[in-house]
Amino acid sequence: MASEGYVYVTRRIPEEALQLLRRDVAVRIWDSDEVVPREVLLKEVAGAVGLLCLLTERIDEELLSHAPRLKVVANMAVGYDNLDLSALSRRRIVATNTPGVLTETTADFAFALIMAIARRVVEGDRFVREGRWKTWGPMLLLGRDVHRATIGIIGMGRIGSEVARRGALGFGMQVLYFSRTRKLDLEERFGYRYVDLETLLRESDFVSIHVDLNDSTRKLIDARRLALMKPTAYLINTARGPIVDSRALYEALRDGRIAGAALDVTDPEPLPLDHPLWSFDNVVITPHIASASERTRARMAEMAAENVLAVLAGREPPNPVVSPQASPKRT
Ligand code: NAP
Ligand code: GLV
Repeated sequence: MASEGYVYVTRRIPEEALQLLRRDVAVRIWDSDEVVPREVLLKEVAGAVGLLCLLTERIDEELLSHAPRLKVVANMAVGYDNLDLSALSRRRIVATNTPGVLTETTADFAFALIMAIARRVVEGDRFVREGRWKTWGPMLLLGRDVHRATIGIIGMGRIGSEVARRGALGFGMQVLYFSRTRKLDLEERFGYRYVDLETLLRESDFVSIHVDLNDSTRKLIDARRLALMKPTAYLINTARGPIVDSRALYEALRDGRIAGAALDVTDPEPLPLDHPLWSFDNVVITPHIASASERTRARMAEMAAENVLAVLAGREPPNPVVSPQASPKRT
């Protein structure tokens, strides 16, 4: 490959992806499972022509001003709220992400959380480990049924659709959804009902969040909207932490206004151990692992590498992120 300079990789990633990069380009890597310190990243991007980064790295004006040779930023994630797209496009740096390949893995995990919170799986495990399991009990750790309940999908995109499909076909659930655009094909094929957000919150037994984080979804689920949920309903968030107002969620749980929450993403992230959300038994929190299957993470890393290589070779990358300003207006 004709590119001078190197690709900087901001974390230890699956080996196959590194090999793919190394076949064509020099690679430097923050060879660790910890986040690369900002000052190291700012130094390393100085000579980089490509950056393979994670959602933990803020790619903003400051970083780009340290990276005069950068041609491509490949996020190893589908979400790209960590990228300043305007700053990137002003400098004509291509941004890419990893859509699709993690859809089913993430939908599986959303369902793992739905099952865990409704059927008190984590509480049950804790109960046994603490030596409190003395006998089978007719009233022990009673939860709520998932089958044939109503699930409300906020954001009927790739992942939202797969969660809905699991709910409808696997668990006989009634599916309500709210999204920016209506999905008439899904309504016709599966009988999903499109409703406004308020109706979804009022009627759902499980509210599952699948919108991307953008200006219109930040704190979408605030105190007023949480107050609309049934006291028997659960909130599940596998999208991004800041879509839910953490303080408002804490207060809703404290006052028993919702039945529980299962969160793979939090605000802030990681959630500090003294955060009040940890005080509830009816909250399950996992460390942003919804896409974390071996196969999916390997494929995500490969996709990111393929995107980097395409841009450095002067080709259109397979997964460009389109700046919202540049995208056609949605109807
Ligand atoms: P996607 O296909 O782009 O779906 C996002 C959906 O959100 C789209 O259907 C979009 O609307 C809808 N939306 C955006 N803004 C909205 C608003 N203001 N009101 C209503 N709907 C809105 O993306 P995806 O691949 O499903 O991924 C979704 C998100 O999941 C990612 O951005 C990422 O943040 C998160 N994620 C998390 C993990 C994890 O490990 N926890 C893993 C993967 C992804 P329309 O299509 O209706 O226009
Ligand atoms: C993970 O959160 C992703 O956006 O891929």
